[in-house]
Amino acid sequence: MEIFRVNGGARLVGDVYVSGAKNSSLKLMAVALLATGKTVIRSVPDIVDVTIMSELLRRLGCEVEYDANTEIVTITVPESITHRADYDLVRRMRASIAVLGPLIARTGEADVALPGGDNIGSRGLDMHIAGLERMGCSVTSEHGYLVVHAPAGGLVGTHVYLDFPSVGATETLLMAGVLANGTTVIDNAAREPEIVDICTMLVEMGAHIDGIGSSMLTVTGVDVLHPVDHTTVPDRIVAGTWAVAAAITQGEIAIHNARVNNLSLVLEKITAAGAQVTEIADGISISMDRRPTAVDIVTLPYPGFPTDLQPQFIAMNAIAEGSALVTENLFEARFRFVQELSRLGAEVRTDGHHALVRGRTKLSSAPVESTDIRAGAGLVLAALVADGETTVHGIEHIDRGYVKFEEQLRRLGADITRDVIADLV
Ligand code: EPU
Repeated sequence: MEIFRVNGGARLVGDVYVSGAKNSSLKLMAVALLATGKTVIRSVPDIVDVTIMSELLRRLGCEVEYDANTEIVTITVPESITHRADYDLVRRMRASIAVLGPLIARTGEADVALPGGDNIGSRGLDMHIAGLERMGCSVTSEHGYLVVHAPAGGLVGTHVYLDFPSVGATETLLMAGVLANGTTVIDNAAREPEIVDICTMLVEMGAHIDGIGSSMLTVTGVDVLHPVDHTTVPDRIVAGTWAVAAAITQGEIAIHNARVNNLSLVLEKITAAGAQVTEIADGISISMDRRPTAVDIVTLPYPGFPTDLQPQFIAMNAIAEGSALVTENLFEARFRFVQELSRLGAEVRTDGHHALVRGRTKLSSAPVESTDIRAGAGLVLAALVADGETTVHGIEHIDRGYVKFEEQLRRLGADITRDVIADLV
């Protein structure tokens, strides 16, 4: 079992380079299924989830090569692909559901294992299913699999209203719509930069999509798409995590390959906390010369504040001057990590989807457990400002979203090591 050992107290100073977004790359790999031939995707981060998605695509019949040095994935898709996403892969990575849309569009059927809940909540698929049904599909659940059949003449374009701008449901319907008969309108669509990235790649492949970046996407189906060479949008959540790392340690970090436009509200909050944000040629520089001021946040779909940066901001608020109210509107179980943060001395009270954080002048080291990717990042950030040595367990979660996190932190001056310890069971 691997853990991080973090000795708090260092001021982080230096440069970091952000890779492509995990939550875009994985979906772009699924998008590749929509065209026969060789697709190249660049700036794909070297994380375990990319390995899982590669394996999933191989089982569907593709050849997949990933080069961690160049961060390039090459996917060769045959004329005919299979249509089953097995439970052993889906249970390891919920994003496997991204193949649902392409499979139904390409083969007219899909058997995709139901992902079930995870550490951040129940995470339904009802909007994916309702949308596909409106496009004429029959959808049943059999033996833990979602079994979907398109109508004999192919998917039928239609108007779909999403109850909530779900990232996953928007992606499924986009990928189904691009090869459907007629026009599919996705109303109340998600507007995340990763959705824009997927739309951009689809358009490069020959898809017709209007309203990209808005909450109404109009997709006019085409007969065939062709493979392309595409570069993934930078990871705004990783960039935001580095911004908090600079602020919480009163340091100065130049974050390269970050898009200011995709981080507007996050940078606004970091500025409100007292940091100086400066645009640099290929990103942003964050510097902080005092204890942060507590900032209220409310998580919402983009362009609202991202839920994937909520734990990192709670960590910053935990050592800030003043109190902050944090409201989580996306994932009901995302406050689970607060209990771990409390082990470091943080003063946080939760009530339903609200958390009241009272800033302390210092945190004190303890063993803690990460429950998901972002909780893990939040705990490491808190450990950077805790007295003494904190051991962070469950770091396999962190490895799913951050490329060699501890090496990058060490280069900035943090005292952090990855150790292997014996597992008791
Ligand atoms: N929801 C439903 N029914 C549906 C779809 C969603 O009830 O049919 C609910 C979910 O249960 C959840 C909320 O709607 O409460 C948001 O779900 P959404 O579909 O928007 O999110 P997702 O596609 O499951 C992606 C990211 C998450 C990120 C969210 C929100 C990937 C692989 N995951 O999840 O990223 O938090 O969008 O931005 O793209 C992470 O990277 O740590 C992470 C969890």
